[in-house]
Amino acid sequence: MDFERVLTKRVSTRRYNDQVPSDEMIQKVLDAALLAPIVRWHKLHLSVVTSRDAINLAEDAAEKIFGTPDAPVKMPKPYLYNAPVWIILAGKIYDEGENPQAKLMNDNLFWNVGSIIENMELQATALGLASCGINTTVVAMRNRPDVKKAVGLPEGYDALASVVIGYSDAMQPDRKVKPELIPVSYVR
Ligand SMILES: Cc1cc2nc3c(=O)[nH]c(=O)nc-3n(C[C@H](O)[C@H](O)[C@H](O)COP(=O)(O)O)c2cc1C
Repeated sequence: MDFERVLTKRVSTRRYNDQVPSDEMIQKVLDAALLAPIVRWHKLHLSVVTSRDAINLAEDAAEKIFGTPDAPVKMPKPYLYNAPVWIILAGKIYDEGENPQAKLMNDNLFWNVGSIIENMELQATALGLASCGINTTVVAMRNRPDVKKAVGLPEGYDALASVVIGYSDAMQPDRKVKPELIPVSYVR
């Protein structure tokens, strides 16, 4: 798929069918993560989760936060949309109490995270897969060592971001550029 087509076809997809991407496809999505523009000093980890038990545990944790009447935002359910593959990017967040440069380092870390997730979503699109960035289940495992363990996070790491991938029968129109989304100014 040519690159401009990838950009207009990538869309957050919230409906998946049962077809499971092949191991080769999953590997290509992971390779895209490794090709992202990232600085080398952060400790990062990718978990590929296909276990329904692990996914159900994460769903339950998310429900405890996003399924309550005073939930910070209302989100459609299930939170991972029954996608067959959930990829979690984890890492070591710098502690503001221990490291005076922690904010700077965390800002830098989160830029890396965005690059990695975006590369995976674009590669998924190029392969004909649907995808969606997911933060609900990431936030929900913050204080849940049982969930972190179940989804394979290394000790001392936190989930930073995640993406689901799979196949979808949902018809999605090509996305249009919407200039109102981000104002642009020029300094010439
Ligand atoms: C940081 C971040 C977190 C997100 N978390 C979720 C999420 O938890 N659940 C969800 O359905 N979509 C999530 N999304 C997808 C956004 O809702 C989506 O990107 C946005 O609505 C724009 O739509 P588009 O991706 O189709 O262009 C997230 C996106 C980003 C960038």
